[in-house]
Amino acid sequence: MSFNLASELPAWKALQNTYDTSGKNFKVAEAFAKDPQRFDKFSKTFTNFDGSKILFDYSKNLVDDEVLAQLIKLAEEAGVEKLRDAMFAGEKINTTEDRAVYHAALRNRALKVMAVDGKDTAKEVDDVLQHMKEFSEQVRSGEWKGYTGKAITDVVNIGIGGSDLGPVMVTEALKAYAKPGLYVHFVSNIDGTHIAETVKDLNPETTLFLIASKTFTTAETCTNANSAKKWFLEKAKDEAHIAKHFAALSTNATEVAKFGIDTKNMFGFENWVGGRYSVWSAIGLSVAIYIGFDNFNDFLKGAEAVDKHFQETPLKDNIPVLGGLISVWYNNFFGAQTHLVAPFDQYLHRFPAYLQQLSMESNGKSVTRGNSFTNYQTGTILFGEPATNAQHSFFQLVHQGTKLIPSDFILAAQSHNPIEHNLHQKMLASNFFAQAEALMVGKNEEQVKKEGATGDLVPHKVFSGNRPTTSILAQKITPAALGSLIAYYEHLTFVEGAVWNINSFDQWGVELGKVLAKVIGKELEDNSVKVESHDPSTKGLINQFKEWAN
Ligand code: F6P
Repeated sequence: MSFNLASELPAWKALQNTYDTSGKNFKVAEAFAKDPQRFDKFSKTFTNFDGSKILFDYSKNLVDDEVLAQLIKLAEEAGVEKLRDAMFAGEKINTTEDRAVYHAALRNRALKVMAVDGKDTAKEVDDVLQHMKEFSEQVRSGEWKGYTGKAITDVVNIGIGGSDLGPVMVTEALKAYAKPGLYVHFVSNIDGTHIAETVKDLNPETTLFLIASKTFTTAETCTNANSAKKWFLEKAKDEAHIAKHFAALSTNATEVAKFGIDTKNMFGFENWVGGRYSVWSAIGLSVAIYIGFDNFNDFLKGAEAVDKHFQETPLKDNIPVLGGLISVWYNNFFGAQTHLVAPFDQYLHRFPAYLQQLSMESNGKSVTRGNSFTNYQTGTILFGEPATNAQHSFFQLVHQGTKLIPSDFILAAQSHNPIEHNLHQKMLASNFFAQAEALMVGKNEEQVKKEGATGDLVPHKVFSGNRPTTSILAQKITPAALGSLIAYYEHLTFVEGAVWNINSFDQWGVELGKVLAKVIGKELEDNSVKVESHDPSTKGLINQFKEWAN
């Protein structure tokens, strides 16, 4: 069925009707009481390539068989499978940039034929991976020497957005696999503090900079890279030493050469890799150096296994499809504005930040693939922090606030740090289970009174419950499991975008600010000259800045 607005699809209308007649009053606790099979029916176990498993429990969501069947129908009518197949066939589904969306080809470890424009990508991708393997092993073993013959102790990745968030998040998440004595650092912000604080205690003789930029034109990255080069040359003096201390991760060989990096030290990828999907590419070099290439390879294979599941599993059992459709149900029928992701895992502390770019840069659009404005909500506001910390900050609002906040909780059964006879892990796990249960069952007035509360205090202690959560339980956060989790969210985001009929792969919305910053940058060159252009607020702020900056 070809369509423009999702809201015109028959299944959308049927869902609206279901929501109006019964969906809005659905009580998940009652659904459990009625159906003893509910947990089995609404939870799915993903088996990874290495046999490890991840359980996705959707049973605490505000859905039943009928809603799920209608959501599947919506996916069918919206052509989710067709778009998915087009993506995996290397078709240019990123229409506004005329590009394929082929990050799946980066984790094609089976080396299947995956072609773009009739050209297979498998060999080219594998060649870059082999280069990454060789280079990462040289750095890790100490064979790669700095300009004074010393081994590398510190790797600094300079990049922003997808050229930063993926490597930061993954190196943090997989710290347990790191090589002792080898440190990674990340510089992204144009704020000089970021680079200054990072290099402050580093030794240029033992520092390797990875300049990570798909385009190699991003202002923040180029400026930070130049400052890094200057810092390095202050001590190293000779530009010939740059070759041992700077590598580029980019699609743009011309700009890399202009910067002064030998293209032998360039790790390339193609423009069919979107920035926010690039951690699987050469952009992941800091990860490969930090955790070792074999672990990086497992990370890719974990994602590849989810790709296979996403491609081959019928919609009703397809885990990312279910995740995406349930999100649409909340966003478009319950009017939910947000999606909370709380990992019960300190190593995953940057996971929500990573997912913010993935989800919000992908689906923060209001024009359809048919070039008209949507008349429904799209991109959800994704946020999160690791629990249990989050419980002691914003969970109050999740439990008793006025907004519906569909939440994902993530836990691994096995900790990398089972200290105190696993006491910490058991406490962490008990909170993971308790939060989801509390959000679902709540506490009514009667219970509150039974516990001794009286008078005006009673309503303050009531929990409405019926607040939906998806619990994701992995056996352990291994490289493979992490690869799978990221790919799960990538495809979930894809499904949302496919249903909303938006292009989840461009990011025009970041352009306007970039252009204006360039103009204003020029105006800030001389603080003695007042600006006359701009709206009165911007003009007033700039002139005040100039006065105070002197
Ligand atoms: O500003 C948005 C963006 O284009 C992201 O999509 C991308 O991840 C980031 O900038 C960095 O871009 P690059 O890797 O080209 O420096």
